[in-house]
Order: sequence, then structure tokens, then C-alpha cells
Amino acid sequence: MFCSKILLNMETAKRKILVVDDNADFVGLVRRLLENKDFQVSVALDGKTAFEKVLSDDPEMVLLDLKLPDLPGEEILKRIKEINKDIAIVIVTGFGGEQVAVDLMRKGATDFLSKPIDREVLYSAINNALKIRDAQIADRNFERYPTLERFFPFLAHEIRNPLHAISGALAIIRRRTDLKDEILDQSIKIIDEEVQHLNEFVQECLNFVRPPNRVHFIEIEMNDVLSVVMNIISHIFESNANKIKVIRELDPALPKIVANYEEIKQAFLNIAKNAFEAMPAGGALTIKTCCKKKSPTHIEVIFSDNGGGIKPEDLKSLFKPFFTTKLRGTGLGLAISRRIIVERHNGKIQIESEEAKGTTVKIELPIGLR
Ligand SMILES: Nc1ncnc2c1ncn2[C@@H]1O[C@H](COP(=O)(O)OP(=O)(O)OP(=O)(O)O)[C@@H](O)[C@H]1O
Ligand SMILES: [Mg+2]
Repeated sequence: MFCSKILLNMETAKRKILVVDDNADFVGLVRRLLENKDFQVSVALDGKTAFEKVLSDDPEMVLLDLKLPDLPGEEILKRIKEINKDIAIVIVTGFGGEQVAVDLMRKGATDFLSKPIDREVLYSAINNALKIRDAQIADRNFERYPTLERFFPFLAHEIRNPLHAISGALAIIRRRTDLKDEILDQSIKIIDEEVQHLNEFVQECLNFVRPPNRVHFIEIEMNDVLSVVMNIISHIFESNANKIKVIRELDPALPKIVANYEEIKQAFLNIAKNAFEAMPAGGALTIKTCCKKKSPTHIEVIFSDNGGGIKPEDLKSLFKPFFTTKLRGTGLGLAISRRIIVERHNGKIQIESEEAKGTTVKIELPIGLR
């Protein structure tokens, strides 16, 4: 099975959450809900035990009730952050506690929930908080990069924090607003979409400068990676996916390659996305894999679409960061793919295109690491 190591890791590495609340019934209920979703849960009924559990269980996230018998919520939040600033904290409040919760979001809490808590709202708040935590940790891993690229994480941090506050405030507005008012509903949706767009842009910038991680090189089957990529693509392009015919010419005898699975997946996702975006009215995408005959140490992957093609004068700029001809493009997709394929995997990427006819992207990757 391809990438079995990755799957194994995902299965074994349960995410750890500490639930802090003095109401034992509530704690029991939340524990069951979270264990059902495969989280590793520990609990504390007061502030003192919470600190002990933070030290002993090393949680990634704390669900923190504000009204505890021994210490005020703000004090607990502050001390947990002092022990480990990477712990995401989601505040749980009773009726009327929202004002304090909003205040605590300025002091490092990631989100808040009001009791009684709906199961789906709980899951989505937790997943969101963990995502934000992971992104913040990733933001810090860039020390060895040249000046311009070191600027990205700084920028990302400065953009993400206010975005995060906007999302939080928007969630409150949503809960308290009459969404039958169509204009208001539309306006909220616009803010939400634009915040999401900016978040994705920041993530793309960070992907671009992410340092290489040799530890994650494993044996992967390219045909399987491509299936995963196309599956993701069919979700992204849900509405017009059936207008595009995907023809697979995959060599069943393709040798495995040693590569970073996540990076390779990202590189091909960017390429496949471009092909789909080039065929808004439909078309065909052929994906071919083969072992290079002249150079049996390499595999070859070819994406050919019959979309709008690329202007001759644009061909030389395709791999430049921020080069885009799209209204909402970041222009980082191919720059990231090139960096992954060429710089991190010693491969090659080449693009040929004819306007109004279509585009062919050829990728070569070495089977073993050099
Ligand atoms: N298959 C393709 N067909 C036509 N044009 C393409 C294709 N692939 C890339 N391009 C051109 O190359 C440009 C750069 O692509 P790149 O993926 O780097 O950025 P983008 O798609 O514009 O934005 P994003 O960051 O969202 O990927 C595109 O804007 C487009 O003009
Ligand atoms: Mg793109």
C-alpha cells in the first residue's frame, strides 16, 4: 500500500485535548463526544489540576470553562500560555459570559463557545483551533531563509492575527443576526469568503518558503498520488468537474519513487488545478505516467489539457512567484511546484502551450534520492 507510513502516523498520532470544567456531567459528555472523533482526552475539574495536566499530558488544545472554583479564567489562560504558548485555548462560557470570552480572545484564546454546546459547533471550533495552532507553529520555522523569504512568515503573522479576530467577530455577528435579511446575509458571506481567500493566500506564501524536510522522504507510488490528487480536484471543482473528461494513461509497472509525499501531492495538485481552471467550459485532461526509456532512473508524468493555452509572451514568466493572469490567482502555484520538483526532488518541469489549443506540463522525477 502506498504511503503506508503516513497513514500509520495519522492513525497513531491522536490529537490531545484537555477539557477543564468543574461540571463533571459536562466534562463526561464532552469527553465522549471527542473520543468518538478519535481525540485523546484528559480532564481537569479545577485550575490547579489543569496546570498539572498541561505539564503531564502535553495537550495541543484546552477547552477551558471560565468559571472554576479555585482560579479566575483569565489567570488560568495566562498560566497555560506561559507553560506552552503553542496550546490552542477555546473558552467555554455560560449564559452572558460572551463579553469576557471576547476579551480573552485578545489575550490569546483562539475561539469561544457558549453553553449549551451543539456537537457540530464543538467539532468545527476544535478543528479550526487546531488548524490555527498548526499554522502558527509552521510560521515560526523559517529562520535560515534569505531576507525576502524571511519576510513572509512575519507578514503571515501580521495578516493572520487580524484575520483571526475578524473571523471570530463574524461568527458572533452570525449567531446574533437575523439571516433572513438577504443583503445582510450576502454581506456576511462576502466577508467570510474574502477572509478565507486571504487566509489561503497567506498559506500559499508560507508553502512557497517552507524549508525542505528530508525526514519525510518515503517510497511512494506516483499513480496512487495522482488518484488522490484527482479526487481532491473533483471536490474543489465540484460544480464543473463533470464537464471535464479525465483520461488516465497510467503505467501499471511504474516503479516507486523516494519522495516527500505531501510535497509531491501539493506540486501535482497545483498543476491539475491549473488545467481545470484553463477549461471553464469543459474539455479533456490526459494524465500519463511512464518510466523514461532513455533514462530508466526517472519516471515521467505528463498533464495535457485542451484549455485556453498560454500566450507566447507569458511562457517565460510562468514559474516566477506572483505571476498570474487570473483575477483571483496568487501566481504561486507553479513557483511552488517548480521548487518542490526541481529544488527538493532533483526533477524537471517543462511547459509547452499553444493558445486556444491547450497546455502540456511534463514532469520528470528521479526514482531514488541522489
Ligand atoms: N494548464 C494551463 N493552462 C493555461 N494557463 C496556465 C496553465 N497552467 C498555468 N497557466 C498560466 O500560468 C499562470 C501561473 O500559474 P500559477 O499556478 O503559478 O498561478 P495561478 O494559477 O495564476 O494562481 P494560483 O496561485 O492560484 O495557482 C496562470 O495564471 C496561467 O496564466
Ligand atoms: Mg495555479
